[in-house]
Amino acid sequence: MCGILGYIGNREAYPILIKGLHRLEYRGYDSAGIALINRENSKLNIYKTKGRVSDLEEFTKGKDISGTVGIAHTRWATHGEPNHINAHPHYSQSENLALIHNGIIENYAVLKESLIRKGYVFQSETDTEVLVQLIEYIKTDNNTDISTAIQLALKQVIGAYAIAVVEKENPDLIIAARKSSPLVVGIGQDEFFLASDASPIIEYTNQVIYLNDEEIALIHRNEQLRIINLSNVEKTPQITLLEMSLNELEKGGYPHFMLKEIFEQPRTLRDCMSGRLNTGNGRVVLSGIIDHREKFINARRIIILACGTSWHAGLIGEYLFEEFCRIPVEVEYSSEFRYRRPVIYPDDVVIAVSQSGETADTLAAIELAKQAGAFVYGICNVVGSSIARNTDSGSYTHVGPEIGVASTKAFTAQVAVLTMMALNIAREKKTISEQQYLALLSELSGIPGKIETILQQNRYIEDLSKIFTYAHNFIYLGRGYSYPVAVEGALKLKEISYIHAEGYPAAEMKHGPIALIDNEMPVVVIAINSTTYDKMTSNIQEIKARKGRILAIVNKSDCKVREMADYTIEIPDTEECLSPLLSIVPLQLLSYHIAVKKGRDVDMPRNLAKSVTVE
Ligand code: F6R
Repeated sequence: MCGILGYIGNREAYPILIKGLHRLEYRGYDSAGIALINRENSKLNIYKTKGRVSDLEEFTKGKDISGTVGIAHTRWATHGEPNHINAHPHYSQSENLALIHNGIIENYAVLKESLIRKGYVFQSETDTEVLVQLIEYIKTDNNTDISTAIQLALKQVIGAYAIAVVEKENPDLIIAARKSSPLVVGIGQDEFFLASDASPIIEYTNQVIYLNDEEIALIHRNEQLRIINLSNVEKTPQITLLEMSLNELEKGGYPHFMLKEIFEQPRTLRDCMSGRLNTGNGRVVLSGIIDHREKFINARRIIILACGTSWHAGLIGEYLFEEFCRIPVEVEYSSEFRYRRPVIYPDDVVIAVSQSGETADTLAAIELAKQAGAFVYGICNVVGSSIARNTDSGSYTHVGPEIGVASTKAFTAQVAVLTMMALNIAREKKTISEQQYLALLSELSGIPGKIETILQQNRYIEDLSKIFTYAHNFIYLGRGYSYPVAVEGALKLKEISYIHAEGYPAAEMKHGPIALIDNEMPVVVIAINSTTYDKMTSNIQEIKARKGRILAIVNKSDCKVREMADYTIEIPDTEECLSPLLSIVPLQLLSYHIAVKKGRDVDMPRNLAKSVTVE
């Protein structure tokens, strides 16, 4: 949610910052801006515009974009509508300082009022401008240097921030700080980079430092990086080596990242299971679980915390843990969990699921669980992310950067990790027979190959999608393990095509939603072989009787549903508990093609951002 970026070194900053902004654009894309210090004429130039990074490039044409130090921002609006005035960077009153920010300053109104009383005039409606004005006020009033002013200002701030500040008269310095929003500093040869994540940095260096909460990086040109905290205690920078590759950040011939990521799933699932799932010796090795075996074996309850698609993966986790491990599970929206008074026992195991590892609500919910003494396990994709660092243990999903805003490959890998966890714990607890355990292990290892066969139907699904572009509403239905798939399928459609879609447990239809069915309503049913197959066929009859148009996801071996449905998409047979890993794939493709046919920007759908670092 908002991408921030900075560069200081011997090269021109503008091209590096623009390229980096393109990489960070998935985090927010309603406006963009850049600040550059030109040493020749001692000017601090800010250029910003509503729209995408490409609009900013257009806007800066013919303008003075020289400078070897600069900061840049791509915005997802929180305070103030997306326009060029609210875009970052923001000047301080004297225009000596420029600041970019990712996060929310919760007490901005109080701070703003007090600054207005002191004669400060505000240009924008943002919380961010308050921060840059506050820093300037403190600097002038206390006659102090910029880093002390930033320390003092941040002590007054309530909320979340990753910021970077440049000062006109100090062209050899960028100051960056963070609390609850991510910030990475890249260390190159005589140059430094800073960014919300490592994707804009990897091209130049693989040495990075992830800042911790309430740390401030003093990034001086041609000097060692210094890190201090708000109380001025010096910290030793911990260098991490990045393992990401540049190829992972490119579209690789696909028209959209989303399609690339859907097609990557056979490989990403193999990567996710590699070294963990061993059918040869019948073992599932997840070091995070092995190291904390007793916690899982003796867990009174499992609480899964997540948002959005990750929450849907969590629902599948609930079915898996209850079926195989016989541990009661609750799946909670992080945002709800953190603001009620949940009962948390010290022998609860909390599993936080998050692709980005930065989701603000999930981070806050984890804190609550930790305070209550629960053991917290993280399932994250982004290595070194805040959730990965703030949990007691965990497993990475290892799918590489997910850039399309709609989550696809991260979802299937989250489900795969939850499946491996459930199998591992069930075997330890002896709540699964050895025969069933080995059969599931073998079947799980074959899932990537089965996804490959589903992807071969891409053309067919694309053709099918044409039929549905007329629709204003969709219903998705599933039962058992297919219910979370229905909800996830509906989310995929609505977020990228802007068609209203709802996912329901099929049997719930009769309790209200059935009133919506008419001959215009497409109903996607996940009607695969399962313990509730016959019940599902009755639900399909009920829809047919009301003339709903049925698109059914069926198994290859299916006969009955095929007869009833208007259209079908086949998936290979598998064990019921593993079926979400297959049945979600055609739904991802269907949403993608419908959205493309409707001319939507599938990788950057309106109003959304990939990493939700504000609550
Ligand atoms: C939907 C989607 C979102 C995220 C949600 C949580 O396609 O991507 O619903 O799943 O914002 O994000 P993470 O997993 O990063 O915590």
